[in-house]
This record gives sequence, structure tokens and C-alpha cells, in this order.
Amino acid sequence: MPSASLVLDPAFVVAPVNRRTFGSFVEHMGRCVYTGIYEPDHATADEDGFRKDVLELTRELGVSLVRYPGGNFVSGYRWEDGVGPRDQRPRRLELAWHSIETNQFGLDEFMHWCAKAGVEPMMAVNLGSRGVQEALDLQEYANHPGGTALSDLRVQHGASTPYGLKLWCLGNEMDGPWQIGHKTASEYGRIAAETARAMRMIEPDLELVACGSSNSGMPTFGSWERDVLRECYDLVDHISCHAYYGDDAGDPASFLASAVDMDRFIDSVVATADHVGAELKSRKRIDISFDEWNVWYGDRSRRTDGPGDQWEVAPRRIEDEYNVTDAVVVGNLLISLLRHSDRVAVACLAQLANVIAPIMTEPGGPAWRQPIFHPFAITSRLAAGSVLRVETSSPTVDTEKFGEVAAVDAVATYDDGKLAVFLVNRSLDESIEVTVDISRTPVTGVLEALSVYDDDRLAVNTANQPDRVVPRQNESVRLENGLLTVTLPPVSWTALSASRD
Ligand code: AHR
Repeated sequence: MPSASLVLDPAFVVAPVNRRTFGSFVEHMGRCVYTGIYEPDHATADEDGFRKDVLELTRELGVSLVRYPGGNFVSGYRWEDGVGPRDQRPRRLELAWHSIETNQFGLDEFMHWCAKAGVEPMMAVNLGSRGVQEALDLQEYANHPGGTALSDLRVQHGASTPYGLKLWCLGNEMDGPWQIGHKTASEYGRIAAETARAMRMIEPDLELVACGSSNSGMPTFGSWERDVLRECYDLVDHISCHAYYGDDAGDPASFLASAVDMDRFIDSVVATADHVGAELKSRKRIDISFDEWNVWYGDRSRRTDGPGDQWEVAPRRIEDEYNVTDAVVVGNLLISLLRHSDRVAVACLAQLANVIAPIMTEPGGPAWRQPIFHPFAITSRLAAGSVLRVETSSPTVDTEKFGEVAAVDAVATYDDGKLAVFLVNRSLDESIEVTVDISRTPVTGVLEALSVYDDDRLAVNTANQPDRVVPRQNESVRLENGLLTVTLPPVSWTALSASRD
């Protein structure tokens, strides 16, 4: 059997584990909100209309933060439509995803839901069809204690305590021609700077995210980040990255190596941001908000799934069914994000429910976990303390897109005598035995060894078979003389945890 090895040293710290790495995303798109997290007629609905089965799964997923309300949706959204008495809220044409928005769920409902789910909210403002004033109005409604028209309106709607929203996205994917209010980099950089400056006049210590490129394949990738940051470097804290990977070309070897692309993407944006910082002779550092990432198949520009052009409420949109291979890729993308914890300040698995999501639901029916749920939930549960720098020596696999890449990729965290190691085997056909030298740690006993793999790497979970793909105990794990060994099956993701006795 081929073998790989890595050495861990608690002194080789990248950065503290950042809980915001385990964010997710709720957009008013398809059935993410309606019949996803919110379904007042559902048997499990609570007094606010939230599905309790989905709330429980959200907690189990270990989500720390949720971005809202879009996505492309936000670029045509009027936030005030979604507050106040429900029977007076307008129904609107929703252009980004070609549907009807009923506005039965809005800011106040979202904030209630976040409190129940135990997650931090991340709010996006509309810089597509709207601008500075509407962003300020939303901020005043949400964050000002009272005594002004909009803050008193929030109090009148039942929220006497301000929401204290700290983390804000200044628009969404403004480089994309599909975006309502699409802009050039200098147009967007300008409005981002103006909005940020004005929002900081109300609250100087907000954390603001400027839009980076929609993906690293955009024709303006690189120059967009540079030009935007030249306009707003001193006024924002983070620049966004978005990336979706899929095996549309039937090339599983390259697909399994998607994290190589994510690594390069992060490194390029960090380099660009630091370049602008150097030009400006600034001591400030801009970090990355990787606020959309996942596996996503199919035609990304598709706006309707059904026949014709009907405008429907909560139509089914991009409800991708994920398999074991997708779960391994998602686990590997999380390894990449953790490895970059020194510069990735926020990351959001897009999205939370039904729309390219770890949690699936049927209206009036069950909720279940997609295979991608498992590596996310386990990583969120086990990663703690500091992320360690890991040098892996591994056999390689050949890929069409990235050339030769390491078959085994890994990252580790260490927290006061407790170690967690996350690994993938990207080989399509070979098991690999990995030896982890942990002799520099005081760790003496294995606590858990869980793997996601299957003889059928395309196996999925469905409403009828919700647990076809679940994590399995990896019985091969051994710890002797400071060496932790484990066998990784082909196309697998594994988490090990160990501690001192
Ligand atoms: O997450 C789905 C969509 O993908 C978002 O609305 C958009 O920002 C991205 O293109």
C-alpha cells in the first residue's frame, strides 16, 4: 500500500482556529428560506414559524455565523418590505432568481432565527439597485438604540434592544454582469468607499467586507481586487472570495483536487491586497471573507428550473444532490480554509438549506443531512485551539487541471493536549497508509477516528434513505511510540482526534 507521512509540532502555529470559518449562508433563493428554515404550517414549526428540525440540524452542523439575505437577491432587495405586520408586506417580483418574494420572512425574523440557532448574523446591503442612503436606513433600523424614526420603528415591531449587527457585506458580486446594478471596479470601489464612510459615521467599529471577484475565472480577477481596494482600503476590513467547484466535465481526479485551486485563489487575493497595502504604505492588513464556497453542479447562469417562465413563490432552484465524492471535496476545501486561518477571517458554506445545501427538506415532510453535512459538522466540532502548519510527504495523483498534486492533504489543530487531524485521500483507486509523527505533543490516546467513504463514491442520501452515507469508525487507527497511523480508503475524508490521558 502506498504511504504518506506528516510531522506535527504544537509550536508551528498558523493562527488560532477562527470560529467564523464555520459560517453558512441563507439567501432568499429557491427554498432556502421558505420551506427551508421557515415553514409556519410544518409539524415541527415553532411559535415563530421556524422549522425546529432544521434548527436542530443547523446546531448539529456547528454553524457559527450566517450571511443574509443574499447573494444575487440582495441587489434588488428593499429591506423595509420585510419588516412590520406580515399582512401588510408587499409581494414583489424577484429578478435575480425569477420568483415571487412574499416578504413573510425579513430582518426581524432572521434575527430571531439567529438567536435560536445560536449563530452570529452577517448582513449584506444592496449596492445594486440602491445605495448609501438605504444602507444607512437599514443600519439605523437594526443598530440604533431608539429615539429616531427607523430605530423606533424596530422597537414598535417588537425589538426593543438593537441588534448590534457588526459584520456587513457591501453588496454582492458586483463584478458579475448578471448582477442587478453591475459595476466596473472603480464604480464599485467608489460606492463601497462612500457607503463604508457613511456607515462608520454611525458606528466607527463595524467590520466591513468589500466585494472581490465572483470567482477566480472572471476576466477581471486580480485587477478587480486591486482597483476596488485602491478606492476603499482604509475603509473596509475584508475582501470577499466566492468559489464553487463541480465535476461537470466528468474529470473526478481534477475535481478531487479542487482545494488546490482554493489554495491558489486565497494566496492570489492575499498577495493583491498586500500589494495595495504596500502601495498605500499602510500598516493595515485586509483579510479574506470567503463568504460563498461549496460544490455546485450545472449551469450557474440558469435562473429557472421549471418549464416556461412562471413567477412562483419559493420554486425549487439548484437543489443539488451531493454524493460521497462531493463530501470529500467539501472536507478538503475546509482543510484549505483552516490552513489559511491567518488570512481567512470569515467563510460561509453556501447555502444552508435546500439550495446547494448540507440540509435538505421537503415541504410538510422530513429534513435530512446530505453527505457534505458530515465533514463540515465534524470539523466544526473537533477543530480547536491553534491551527498547525503541516508539511505532508505524499504520493501524487495526476490531474488534467492541476498537473501532479499530493494524494493526501491534511491540516491539524492543537488545543492544550488535544489534537485533531483532518485528512483526505484524493486517489480514485488506492488506499494510502498515513503516519503522523506526534512525538512533539503530549498526546497518548486516540479518541475518535471517523471517515467518510463508500464502495460507491457516488452514493447519496435521500428523503427515503437519509443515512445511506454517514461517517464510519476507521478501525485502522493506531498510536504507538508517538506515531499515529491510519489507512485512508480511496476518495475519503478522515478526522482523527487524540489527547493526553
Ligand atoms: O449561492 C448562490 C449564488 O451564487 C449567489 O446568489 C451568488 O452570490 C452566487 O453567484
